[in-house]
Amino acid sequence: MKFDSQVVHGTGKCDPATGSICVPIYQTTTYKHPSLSESCGYDYSRIQNPTRQALEETIAMLEEGTHGFAYTTGLAADMAVFSLLSAGDHAVISDDVYGGTYRMIEKIWSRYKVEFTFVDPGNLDAIEAAMRPNTKLVFVETPTNPTMKVADIAAIAKIAKAHGAYTVVDNTFLTPYLQKPLNLGADIVLHSATKFLGGHHDTMAGLIVVKDPELAEHFKLMVGTEGAGLAPLDSWLILRGIKTLALRMQRHEENTRKVAEWLRNHPRVEKVYYVGFPDHPGYEISSRQASGFGGMLSFTVDSVETVHRVIENVKMIMFAESLGGTETLITYPLTQTHASVPEEARLKLGITDRFMRLSVGIEDVQDIIDDLAQALN
Ligand SMILES: Cc1ncc(COP(=O)(O)O)c(C=O)c1O
Repeated sequence: MKFDSQVVHGTGKCDPATGSICVPIYQTTTYKHPSLSESCGYDYSRIQNPTRQALEETIAMLEEGTHGFAYTTGLAADMAVFSLLSAGDHAVISDDVYGGTYRMIEKIWSRYKVEFTFVDPGNLDAIEAAMRPNTKLVFVETPTNPTMKVADIAAIAKIAKAHGAYTVVDNTFLTPYLQKPLNLGADIVLHSATKFLGGHHDTMAGLIVVKDPELAEHFKLMVGTEGAGLAPLDSWLILRGIKTLALRMQRHEENTRKVAEWLRNHPRVEKVYYVGFPDHPGYEISSRQASGFGGMLSFTVDSVETVHRVIENVKMIMFAESLGGTETLITYPLTQTHASVPEEARLKLGITDRFMRLSVGIEDVQDIIDDLAQALN
């Protein structure tokens, strides 16, 4: 089956009790066993639930892994990934990760005697130089949030493997519709499924996919022990969102390309961060490892006054955090998504007070452009 059909049909299992073609919402905490020596296959919903399991099997299939794990949020999934580290371990992290991931590392994991080095994910020499004998994880987003840097997944995985470390790729921005990190050598794929996978700005979720049995055991233990497994209704909502992933991603892609080109020619716009421009430094790598550039872009404008004008005057576009849903959202990383990143690090990345991020939705692209035009002028 092709990917566009896989998202619609999922694992293709009908409900065994009724034949329902939609996965039922198994709203239960526990399961009745037939006898002392027989189990119905489920014990307790913290450990496993059939609706959550359907989502986990679906994302494992779409990412071409063997085991999927569904968490309450992307950050809960991140916590499970970082719990692979023990005191004395070291991790190499992209210097342009989502602000919440940065906060989790700085405020929580640093207290557990785990060491971190932040590097530019586009600089392979810097990654190689950062590796230590105790490096256990290399963690990248690609493209990065919000400055749209591109990391060469295959090359990074090669470096990590040579040093006995796992490669983790946050695939939130592109989804398996456009990029499959496990096929490029990554060990762990992570998603904030709150974004494009869910797709409607209505459900929080995080997903992990692996194909190594030892890693699968770790996440199985974590999901059942940490108690952050996704609830049945939320699992169902993400499954429902995934059914239209291919259609939505096509439209996000088409709209984003047009909006990026339009913004680039606007006199008040200084720079557009969009991987799909042939002069973007990551264009070539991205074209090799992904089949599209996704629905995200960032841009800087001529003044802080212009930022205020845009944010206060957009009408259809909404000034809100998050990304990847049907509606176009404009975000101000300085005070929103990246407020936890220290000023010096933020400025080094170019996240200034004139920097905005756009999650381009699936509306008519002319309405998006018209709205930006009236707000910018
Ligand atoms: C790239 C990326 N990874 C992880 C997260 C965290 O996900 P969640 O908000 O679902 O906890 C986000 C949130 O914005 C994100 O953008």
